Amino acid sequence: MDNAKLVLNGKEYQLPVTVGTEGEVGIDITALRSKTGAITLDSGYGNTGSCESSITFIDGERGILQYRGYPIEELAAKSSFLEVSFLLIFGHLPTREELDKFTFDLTHHSLLREDMKKFYEGYPPTAHPMGVLCSMVVSLSAYYPDTQEERYNNIIRLLAKLKTIAAFSYKKSIGQPYVYPRNNMSFAADLLHMMFAVPAEDYEVHQEVADALDLLLILHADHEQNCSTSTVRMVGSSEANMFATIASGICALWGKLHGGANQHVIEMLQRIQNEGGDYRKFIDMAKDKNSSFKLMGFGHRVYKNFDPRAKILKEAADKVLNKLGIKDPLLEIAKNLERVALEDSYFIERKLYPNVDFYSGIIYRAMGIPTEMFTVMFALGRLPGWIAQWKEMREDPAMRIYRPRQIYTGCTERSYIPIDERRTVEVK
Ligand code: CMC
Repeated sequence: MDNAKLVLNGKEYQLPVTVGTEGEVGIDITALRSKTGAITLDSGYGNTGSCESSITFIDGERGILQYRGYPIEELAAKSSFLEVSFLLIFGHLPTREELDKFTFDLTHHSLLREDMKKFYEGYPPTAHPMGVLCSMVVSLSAYYPDTQEERYNNIIRLLAKLKTIAAFSYKKSIGQPYVYPRNNMSFAADLLHMMFAVPAEDYEVHQEVADALDLLLILHADHEQNCSTSTVRMVGSSEANMFATIASGICALWGKLHGGANQHVIEMLQRIQNEGGDYRKFIDMAKDKNSSFKLMGFGHRVYKNFDPRAKILKEAADKVLNKLGIKDPLLEIAKNLERVALEDSYFIERKLYPNVDFYSGIIYRAMGIPTEMFTVMFALGRLPGWIAQWKEMREDPAMRIYRPRQIYTGCTERSYIPIDERRTVEVK
């Protein structure tokens, strides 16, 4: 493909063009500032490619999502979360031997150091589990040195221990004793067992519930350069240790415009129900530019068509609730909202469709997972993606520290004012 031409102040510059394997075109501006003295301005990075990556491909116009070239629909139907984790991190589908070893390694690193339990004692029971999750992850750096030799082991440790950390934070919030991980259970079943078993009773994990959780984890496993993944790359680019780097991704995920949306979707559906079920009123509120209300679980920076994950989850929600014999009025409200929104010119013109968070909460609820834990579930799913992206970046010999520039809009140079000569300025 030809170079791109830029004309600035009457002078013409040639900029090289990079084309990805799926035909995506990027104008390479690496040398822009040194050649022209100018930078690009792209608030929210809507048009900025921050890296080249061979992990995940999204075509938002066509509603396509692929991990390492495999369509999400196929992985959701045929694969398992551990297989997908291996695929994302190591780049290929594991052989049986590789998967057996990976599974063995993960099951044998899921215990937390006993003294780490003390950290939980410092939190009030009302602590949001995302805050606990993130601080426990960064605490792992105190136990496991971040050396090149330990890289594989640390990846395994983090993947294995995050579910124990998550389950313990839930137990702490409800004041129950911690349930330790079991090596004879699948990843999803073990997580559910640690969350819901109590020492006084036998607890059997329903296969349907474990399968549904595994599916949810697969669907959340990676999504290229979103807010939390870019945060992971940003922090990781300073060569901060892996645990601190991933903890930063957990913090970024927490916000309600990102992974926190799943909690807010259920809270919104509950509010609609509590206020009499008039979902049209909420559609009107979402369209009203004088209101800050947004339809949670709707819209996406990249998808301008159906989010393929939402399609899979809508079907899964019906299946799981039927199998468990649960009738959830919130599912009906969600379907009505979706139907009305998709026929409304506001949502049509802006290409706003349900995203992954729209139906996931309904399934988590059916599993008995409390609302505050939803984003923790998202983090558990996203972990292999964050690790894969961090590893890809750190293994790239051309890696540089992330350091965007800015266009300064503040005061130009002025002289210092002695304190008694200053006027009061209202502080915002
Ligand atoms: N409800 C009502 N209007 C919306 C919504 C919504 N959920 N989402 C976007 N819009 C409007 C927005 O007001 C803007 O309108 P206008 O052109 O008149 O100013 C237009 O659609 C374009 O939206 P935007 O805010 O410029 O889009 P963005 O790419 O900056 O934001 C988003 C994407 C996901 C943050 C946003 O759609 C949103 O806030 N959605 C609700 C929160 C949510 O569900 N987040 C989860 C995202 S998927 C999970 C993940 O990977 O994080």
